[in-house]
Amino acid sequence: MVTEMKAKVIYTNLLKEDLVIIRLVPVEGMPEYTTGQFLTIGVTVPTENYKLVRRAYSICSHPENKDYFEFVIRWVRNPLPGRVTTMMFYASVGDEMKLGYPTGNALLINEKLANGEKDMRRIICVGGGTGLAPFIAYANHLHDIGDKRQLVILHGASYIDELSYKRMLTDLEDESIKRGKDEWNFIYRAAISRPKELFNRSWSGHVGRVESFFKEGKNGAPIDELVGEKITPENTYIYICGYQGTIDGVIDSVKARGFVTKDDKRDDGSYEIRYESYG
Ligand SMILES: Cc1cc2nc3c(=O)[nH]c(=O)nc-3n(C[C@H](O)[C@H](O)[C@H](O)COP(=O)(O)OP(=O)(O)OC[C@H]3O[C@@H](n4cnc5c(N)ncnc54)[C@H](O)[C@@H]3O)c2cc1C
Ligand SMILES: NC(=O)c1ccc[n+]([C@@H]2O[C@H](COP(=O)([O-])OP(=O)(O)OC[C@H]3O[C@@H](n4cnc5c(N)ncnc54)[C@H](OP(=O)(O)O)[C@@H]3O)[C@@H](O)[C@H]2O)c1
Repeated sequence: MVTEMKAKVIYTNLLKEDLVIIRLVPVEGMPEYTTGQFLTIGVTVPTENYKLVRRAYSICSHPENKDYFEFVIRWVRNPLPGRVTTMMFYASVGDEMKLGYPTGNALLINEKLANGEKDMRRIICVGGGTGLAPFIAYANHLHDIGDKRQLVILHGASYIDELSYKRMLTDLEDESIKRGKDEWNFIYRAAISRPKELFNRSWSGHVGRVESFFKEGKNGAPIDELVGEKITPENTYIYICGYQGTIDGVIDSVKARGFVTKDDKRDDGSYEIRYESYG
């Protein structure tokens, strides 16, 4: 059975020295995949006798885009340069890599309620750093299929130049305002976790790590104010991708409201927090 595809790099956009957007096209054509999946990228590593080394990467592009796979990748440098990311930061247009087939179901979008009816609850996505990747696919997919659910994307980064898809997500929010929420219901907010650093001096948005949107205050949490009502398991489904600390931070804040994860699902099989941890 063929488990890997040959693929070519068709585009790279270095956002900063250790953050890149890269597009790959399988030579044999694009396979079908589902929003929220990931795949493995394999590269040969010269320092390891040209051994093929593979790592998992979340797919940023959405299945309606039949032209390429897009990824946002952090160059892991500490304590030692990461094997695959170092090679990806040397990659140029035309270079060849291996791609595994899309897989994973941790971040598939929930479509049905426990009673079988269509799930129309608000979707809140929480992406820490490059953990934003699957939610870029959500935004473009739900936009392209005309989904009527409210989609809220929250992105956490240390520095403002790491808000990798700020322009695209701002455009999608502007479109929501222009067309009206009955047509396209979308909110994007970012959180900057190192607001005191000089580089971030122009930032006037939310400060703190992204999970702080869910921290209870006197009048509820900032997320309640953002969406205009108290979020509950009856009106909201939450997806998280990032460090375990981000995932735990969100879960700890919302569990008192009755939100549960797959690990603690109810007797009827229902739950409304899905996550994928950096591993
Ligand atoms: C489902 C999933 C989706 C993912 N999606 C993304 C994504 O969208 N974007 C993204 O950037 N990442 C993503 N990742 C992370 C990715 O899979 C890799 O783990 C990451 O890119 C690092 O790979 P690497 O080969 O460069 O590092 P590795 O070589 O695997 O190194 C990993 C760590 O070990 C350290 N190390 C290496 N060798 C040594 C040594 N000899 N002694 C001590 N320490 C050492 C490195 O410094 C580094 O900190 C995802 C992971 C999963 C599981
Ligand atoms: N699906 C996946 O499994 C997946 C997806 C994407 C990336 N990754 C991997 O994750 C790693 C780092 O990602 P990144 O570089 O994108 O993140 P990053 O930019 O270093 O951090 C993003 C945000 O997370 C915060 N943060 C850092 N450590 C945290 C912790 N322990 N708990 C909660 N929040 C924390 C940062 O806050 P501070 O400013 O306070 O540090 C920052 O606000 C990379 O190795 C990448 O390859 C995995």
